[in-house]
Amino acid sequence: MKTIFIVANWKSNKTTQEVHDWIETFANNQIQHENKTIIICPAFLFLPLLKPYTVTNDSFLKLGAQNISPFDEGAYTGEVNGKQLKEFVNYVLIGHSERRKFFHEDEKVLAAKVLQAKENSLESIYCVGSQDDAVAEGVKIVAYEPLEAIGSGKPDTAQNANEVARKIKEKNPHVLHVLYGGSVTAKNVLEFTKAEYLDGVLVGGASLDVKAFTEIIENT
Ligand code: PGA
Repeated sequence: MKTIFIVANWKSNKTTQEVHDWIETFANNQIQHENKTIIICPAFLFLPLLKPYTVTNDSFLKLGAQNISPFDEGAYTGEVNGKQLKEFVNYVLIGHSERRKFFHEDEKVLAAKVLQAKENSLESIYCVGSQDDAVAEGVKIVAYEPLEAIGSGKPDTAQNANEVARKIKEKNPHVLHVLYGGSVTAKNVLEFTKAEYLDGVLVGGASLDVKAFTEIIENT
């Protein structure tokens, strides 16, 4: 049985109180999580608050960062580097379409980020919009997120996402897992996670609400 990744991308949302309420509710639910890896990617600020919830014996919950500096530590004002992140997270999102669009991150910068992640033993979750996008060398987890499906309520079909995942794996033999992202909900999640070449989902909007996100995990 394959392990399913369910990744919550909170983007630039939530206050400390909201994060506290979300995680307390989540931790108190008895969630069926066999063969599932749940990864929460909050804003950097909330990593210390969430970290204790990931260090219990039964730690199916992991943390991811939404970004990483393309540089090592040093004089790079405003950046959070891999050495700092690895105190808190195991994963990092790289190349999300919002980073590419609003922060003009190109393949050169993304490759530098992947390298920083690797040097700090962080697993990159590398986001692409199609099977034609380059995947940086050494990346093991890719998230396929078609632009028009993100935040639109109009997900790709599971059949097409599966075919894209197959092609990504074929083209990049170092890629072991492909996730689907874009308008994933509790209603449609199973179609994606049961598809042969897909290994999980990246959830934006529906991960902000703890009830909706719990349902996604349960319906997987
Ligand atoms: P969405 O976002 O689930 O709100 O469509 C997905 C993402 O941007 O990662």
